Amino acid sequence: MSEKQTFLGWIDDRFPLTKVWNEHLAEYYAPKNFNFWYFMGSLAILVLVNQIVTGIWLAMHYKPDAGLAFSSVEYIMRDVDWGWLLRYLHSTGASAFFAVIYLHMFRGLMYGSYQKPRELLWIIGVIIYLAMMATAFMGYLLPWGQMSFWGAQVIVNLFAAVPFVGEELSIWIRGDYVISDATLNRFFAFHFLLPFVLVGLVFLHIVALHKVGSNNPDGIEIKKNKDENGIPKDGIPFHPYYSVKDIAGVVGFLIIFLGIVFFAPDFFGLFLEAPNFEPANPLKTPDHIAPVWYFTPFYAMLRAVPPMFGSQFPGVVVMFAAIIVMFFLPWLDKSPVKSIRYKGPIFKAALAIFAVTFVVLAWLGMKPSSPILTLMAQIFTALYFAFFLLMPWYSKIDKTKPEPERVTG
Ligand code: HEM
Repeated sequence: MSEKQTFLGWIDDRFPLTKVWNEHLAEYYAPKNFNFWYFMGSLAILVLVNQIVTGIWLAMHYKPDAGLAFSSVEYIMRDVDWGWLLRYLHSTGASAFFAVIYLHMFRGLMYGSYQKPRELLWIIGVIIYLAMMATAFMGYLLPWGQMSFWGAQVIVNLFAAVPFVGEELSIWIRGDYVISDATLNRFFAFHFLLPFVLVGLVFLHIVALHKVGSNNPDGIEIKKNKDENGIPKDGIPFHPYYSVKDIAGVVGFLIIFLGIVFFAPDFFGLFLEAPNFEPANPLKTPDHIAPVWYFTPFYAMLRAVPPMFGSQFPGVVVMFAAIIVMFFLPWLDKSPVKSIRYKGPIFKAALAIFAVTFVVLAWLGMKPSSPILTLMAQIFTALYFAFFLLMPWYSKIDKTKPEPERVTG
């Protein structure tokens, strides 16, 4: 028992508060060369908190009932004090979350942050991404608009394409033969639960990050160069240096985010689609069903694959494979260097083509299909998979540059 008299001392004797503060903030040494891309992790935490807080307050007025859901959302928009703001913060927040995460993941691709020793950190990230997708998908059903209903209808029907068990599986997911009140209720329950699972996963993500330490734009390990006190020479304490720097990122982010919330909350039909301002009508299919932008790359891949024996199953497999392949990335990259700065021209070209591919697929997924667009979707789906599946080959033959000893600038 220590002799400490302070309140903090009393806590520290019973809970490792100062120890955790030091190990993870004040004496956690992060590379000194973080750039713009390193804002995204803290911004993702900010957006997750925003989603949880606004979501809980929305849930205080929302009714998960097929007969009441749509009007309860309209009630929130018109009659609940600040309800419109809560809703727009939440709906714009969902898109912001994916925008931030796509940049966060792209940073990982650029700087090889998935490579040894950060494989598990990356894998936890992909699990987070899957959980985010499930959360967003179920959340979109809740306003019970036309796109909510028909989007869920299309996606849950995909499960019916699974051989042998498909029909039962889709009924089990819906709790009914069609998307109905039972589906809405369970989606609401899971949509409320999953963000807390996300919090747990983010905790594991940070624990894994702090075990191995952050990568950086040079892709070299700062732990290899320590001073006589065992402190990395190219490291600076996370707090106050990065806690303050991240605030600058938050301010920049909020300017853009709130600009959209206040002036273009539907973002020209990209964040809230026009048919969703009409109540769900099981008897009237919208002219064109498309998911929200962050799902459209995968939707384009689904539609690119032609049905086999009248079954959509091959498309479903391709769509899920497009995500599952991300898990294997740490073992697909055979390059001796991590960062794009020292990788060769082939990897640079592959990553640039991949980024363009993802954007084109997103665009294709928003468009009604036509023969020429389907052909394009097939080509870009092939390019998407080529980036991953050919990586063991092109990352090996690529001509890399030598990495510096110490981090640069
Ligand atoms: C709720 C979602 C997420 C949150 C809150 C989150 C949070 C964070 C934070 C705070 C960091 C440290 C700061 C930074 O490097 O930017 C980080 C690093 C990292 N995250 Fe995430 N993350 C999320 C999702 C993901 C996803 C989906 C992936 C990949 C599939 C991923 C992969 C990584 C990697 C590889 C690093 C280490 C990067 C480096 O050191 O260069 N994260 N994350």
